[in-house]
Amino acid sequence: MSDFNEIGKTVVRYFQEWGFVMPKLHILGFGEFAVETGKKLVLAIEDSGVNILHRCGGKGKCTTCRVEILEGDYTETSPQKALDSKYFIDDQLRLSCQLRIAGDLKIRTIKTVENSGLEAGPRPLGQ
Ligand code: FES
Repeated sequence: MSDFNEIGKTVVRYFQEWGFVMPKLHILGFGEFAVETGKKLVLAIEDSGVNILHRCGGKGKCTTCRVEILEGDYTETSPQKALDSKYFIDDQLRLSCQLRIAGDLKIRTIKTVENSGLEAGPRPLGQ
């Protein structure tokens, strides 16, 4: 039975990579949203209606966009940046401006406009 589940997950992942099926982004406390494969995580969160902070505009300098990765698939926008301890906070906390959606993903946001009282910051460039 678990082999069947693994095969099913692999098929879904291929369909998501090819754009036939949109990955699901589960944001703890906010819900589950269909998102585009390859989209920057910080933008996927914001476009899902969650006012995550991104005070430096997605330049990887402020850490206000950090999220806790609970499970799922993502890629780094820059492998070199991912190796830098400044960008790799710990096993679960990552900068959402430095990640892209690669499949279903479950996260918890840390700083939002509502819980910080701060403005979100300039929208990160790109997709
Ligand atoms: S580190 Fe500033 S927006 Fe990501």
